[in-house]
Amino acid sequence: MKRLSERLQDVVTTAFKNAGIDEKYSSVGISNRPDLCDYQSNGAMAAAKEYHKAPFVIADEIIAKLNELPEAKKYFAKAEAVKPGFLNFTLSPEFMAEYAGQMDSETDFGFEKAPDSKNIVLDYGGPNVAKPLHVGHLRSAIIGESLKRIERFVGNKVTGDVHLGDWGLQMGLIIAELEDRGQLDKDLNISELEEIYPFASKKSKEVYEDGPHKGELVNPEFAERAHEATLKLQSGDPKYHAVWEKIMKVSVEDLKKNYANLNVHFDLWKGESDAEPYIPELIKLLTDKGLAYKSEGALVVDVSEPTDSKEIPPCMIQKSDGAALYSTSDLGTVMDREKNLHPDEYIYIADRRQELHYVQFFRVARKAGLVKPETVLKFIGFGTMNGKDGKPFKTREGGVMRLETLISDITNAVAEKMADRDMPEDTKQAVAKQVGLAALKYGDLSNQAAKDYVFDLDRFASFEGNTGPYIQYTVVRIRSILDKYAESVGKDRKGIEDDLRTVKFTAPAHENEKKLILTIDRFADTLTNVASDLAPHKLCAYIYELANNFSAFYHECPILTESDEARKMSLLKVSALTGKILVTCLDLLGIEAPERM
Ligand code: ARG
Repeated sequence: MKRLSERLQDVVTTAFKNAGIDEKYSSVGISNRPDLCDYQSNGAMAAAKEYHKAPFVIADEIIAKLNELPEAKKYFAKAEAVKPGFLNFTLSPEFMAEYAGQMDSETDFGFEKAPDSKNIVLDYGGPNVAKPLHVGHLRSAIIGESLKRIERFVGNKVTGDVHLGDWGLQMGLIIAELEDRGQLDKDLNISELEEIYPFASKKSKEVYEDGPHKGELVNPEFAERAHEATLKLQSGDPKYHAVWEKIMKVSVEDLKKNYANLNVHFDLWKGESDAEPYIPELIKLLTDKGLAYKSEGALVVDVSEPTDSKEIPPCMIQKSDGAALYSTSDLGTVMDREKNLHPDEYIYIADRRQELHYVQFFRVARKAGLVKPETVLKFIGFGTMNGKDGKPFKTREGGVMRLETLISDITNAVAEKMADRDMPEDTKQAVAKQVGLAALKYGDLSNQAAKDYVFDLDRFASFEGNTGPYIQYTVVRIRSILDKYAESVGKDRKGIEDDLRTVKFTAPAHENEKKLILTIDRFADTLTNVASDLAPHKLCAYIYELANNFSAFYHECPILTESDEARKMSLLKVSALTGKILVTCLDLLGIEAPERM
């Protein structure tokens, strides 16, 4: 189905051409003065210079040509030239309603998937095996899951890969500690594993606070052994590999449970370890091409470019002891993905502070020809989730907040608000969880990813304002309106939804109704924009506006007491459509809409 904006653009472009003005000036957009008009074009002003005419004269000529076109009569209630040369368009209420009706009858509200769909690899989540999943990894999971859903909705193929941190020093530390405890062969469970890593990490870093050895490592031998164990594991030692597999099994099972709990789902559960087989080939390639060279024993690749505004240091590929690094595994992973997935685009989602790493290894990947020149490599760096003190979010005791704890804290806060609801206890608990997750996810996604934000449980979980629960609540209200109506005619909601299918929208009669329908009509353009900018926060802004416009509409246009039957059905249908769009958009944010709350 042709979009509203495309239809408007077509007719306006024709008017420009008929007035003898190059169509390159004819761009139409949403009005930035909604009090004056719905859509606008500033093309006449832009064209004035080239045509040596006053903008207003050009604008007048275009409007005259526009008014000759039958489509323009259909689309616009008013199309006018306004000084100094704006073109202001007000949509015809009939057309607005007709378009919303078409949206309602088509799948995906008439959104047509991109014909030139892209094959995208989305690298998100990025948890580190054997370390507890904490809030630092929360943002990656929430943003990534939403982008996966959005990109799929607009028609792209997306493979989401969790890219586990499963090959680093943490593995050597755990192995060395298990050795010290004589537990190398023992079966482990997740709580034991979670105790071991922080213990071993601390042991390897602990220094004397004072005395003759002040500042020196307490257990240098342990740190050294952990390092060696890592190297041995990386070079395929069978005994260590068996321990590694055991650790992986326990940890991945736990991670899967945690992500499922968040309603985050990955297509691939690969990790840094999967890059290992590619590393010898990578190093040979980089060396043969003359890109990698030895510097103080380490192997590095220069990546600086003359246009850099700040210095980009060489990318280190191998340490002097032969150990692989973060970049090495990311480059090996690119080779694996090229071989198995052939992506047109890579999107990596990680903490903003890792930006340099991505700049470096992207450049190496390009220089070495690991990817095609036209392959797109993107990094989305997100900011920190802070506490109210403006510092990275911590537990009350100052420790790292575990994701599980955070989720249960939020669920409890919501459950408290819902204490007086007349609902079976287990339903209430399930709804509190859905609402809690919405609070958490929307609180995150409604901010531009790159920015830091303050985690404010009270604000995020509020049923009012720009929050996930408020959007969910709007859906619940709409459903309850449909239910009430259904009851009054002795049907159920499903029956009413069926009936509404054949209802024709009547032209909006009230200003608030018009505003709501205009917002509905903008759905397709919004999604295209959100997807191309990789910007879930723009989707949040859209549904917040939609929910607010619904409230204003419902306030002024009582539905159930409306005496004109045709209008009443039309108002019900507008409400139902608003509800469906909200549910679809929430789903694209990874948020569920409860039946009641
Ligand atoms: N494991 C990393 C971390 O905890 C994130 C991995 C991101 N993905 C990547 N391909 N580098 O910071």
